[in-house]
Amino acid sequence: MGKKSGGDVGIVSQNCADFATPNVVLKKFPDGENYCRLENAEEIRGNNVRILHRLYPNPDDSIIALMQIIYGVKKSGAENISLIIPYLPYARADKVWLGGEVESARMLVKMLVCGGAKKMFVWDCHFLKKEGEFEFEGMKIENKCVGQKLVQYLKKTSKDAVVVGPDMGAKHMAGKCGKVMKKRRGEYAEEKSAFRPVVEMEAYFDVKEKEVILIDDMIAGGGTMVNATKKCFEMGAKKVHCAATHGLFLGEAIGKIKGAGVGKIVVTDSILGETERMSLKEEIVGLLGGKK
Ligand code: R5P
Repeated sequence: MGKKSGGDVGIVSQNCADFATPNVVLKKFPDGENYCRLENAEEIRGNNVRILHRLYPNPDDSIIALMQIIYGVKKSGAENISLIIPYLPYARADKVWLGGEVESARMLVKMLVCGGAKKMFVWDCHFLKKEGEFEFEGMKIENKCVGQKLVQYLKKTSKDAVVVGPDMGAKHMAGKCGKVMKKRRGEYAEEKSAFRPVVEMEAYFDVKEKEVILIDDMIAGGGTMVNATKKCFEMGAKKVHCAATHGLFLGEAIGKIKGAGVGKIVVTDSILGETERMSLKEEIVGLLGGKK
């Protein structure tokens, strides 16, 4: 029997089984296309639906899967559709560096709105840069910031550490008492890769003989953390630890960061992996309306 109208229904993707019991089946057709089935489609009509789905790894494929889930939920008669997206990919493609570049961050959000989603919960979204509610391309976005929780997590063992954001974009992560560096990236390094290496870090504060916690929204290839760590050691820091909300750890990122002399590396489980993770589970289960 269907659930009464006007209630809340949680839709949990298979790739979020560590947060709650999944009720979306995602498989592959033999040609590589996505198969998607909602197990509780009959509960949806007239209800407010919250969809929990990870968009990383395999962002492009996972975005198609999300569009399929939204489509299925809408077709099943949902009253309102909200998304819970632990890590939002394409969020760094929010500016035009070379004329004609596509702002894919806007495109992605617009696509989700066109699909039928009205609201989205995200964590330390790169283009929002502070906690709160925003209106972006027709989507209400609630951006949750866990910078200070990550800092407190590391401060359990590094009480007096100086908190440093490795670039101006990480200012809100470092908090009121934190310091920030200035980071400059160069031009695109190769023809085939849209990657601009870090070429300079500037810092005007004192970390001599001090322990440092570097905090950022994300670690991708690790260049930012490696360069920020080197800068801290040049300035006389005695220890450096790294924390970020999203740990993509591309290629040899962990080895490079450890190789620069970093002690602890902590991220959240917005993305799954082997590094130490502070869990977002409680917050996410709360947003789902208690579905476990
Ligand atoms: C960019 O400004 C972000 O906030 C991160 O600092 C950056 O994306 C990290 O990337 P990577 O680890 O490749 O330096």
